[in-house]
Amino acid sequence: MKFFIDTANLAQIKEANDLGILDGVTTNPSLMAKEGIKGHDAVVNHYKTICEIVDGDISAEVVSTTFNEIIEEGKKLAAIHPNIIVKVPMIKEGVKAIKWFTDNGIATNCTLVFSAGQAILAAKAGAKYVSPFIGRIDDSGWDGVQLISQIAEIYSIQGFETQILAASIRTSNHIIECAQAGADVCTCPLEPILGLLKHPLTDIGLAKFLEDAKKFA
Ligand code: E4P
Repeated sequence: MKFFIDTANLAQIKEANDLGILDGVTTNPSLMAKEGIKGHDAVVNHYKTICEIVDGDISAEVVSTTFNEIIEEGKKLAAIHPNIIVKVPMIKEGVKAIKWFTDNGIATNCTLVFSAGQAILAAKAGAKYVSPFIGRIDDSGWDGVQLISQIAEIYSIQGFETQILAASIRTSNHIIECAQAGADVCTCPLEPILGLLKHPLTDIGLAKFLEDAKKFA
């Protein structure tokens, strides 16, 4: 399973990249706004900087909602760097645009996916990634991880090559459950990634080893 970090914060991207286990980055308009990035040039420069830090797929989301505008915006985003993946919302115009991007050699991430039916459409249109939002599904009282399992089973039966990118991750346990459910990628904030490191028995065991090491130092 690949690990992407889900942020536009450069310090957190660097910290995750320094761990040596990072495969890419996802951003969205909310995450870009949170970093105070404003205006066309600032947005382009920010994506360029992320691409310089991480050698992997970097999702940059369109904010257009009509076919022609999505295509124009997506082409500009894709031109920023070869590693840019154009992130397109799961709407009718978005599916049409994903198909166009696929036919024209531009890789896409279909975002805002909340059902298996939407995941089938994204795969049919040729998206490189499909992003089910498991945390938001959990927040609404359904089971986000169960959706990952369902999509994984459908994609396996049908031979779809679209990669399942589990998004909207809230906890370290989400990452483990998504890995078990067949996600190809997990994108998450830095905290759940770092949370995977923690176990009290590791801390107790290390303290004992270091204590005993003093006896033969
Ligand atoms: C990533 O691709 C998604 O935009 C992101 O994971 C959404 O996360 P949220 O539900 O925490 O906003």
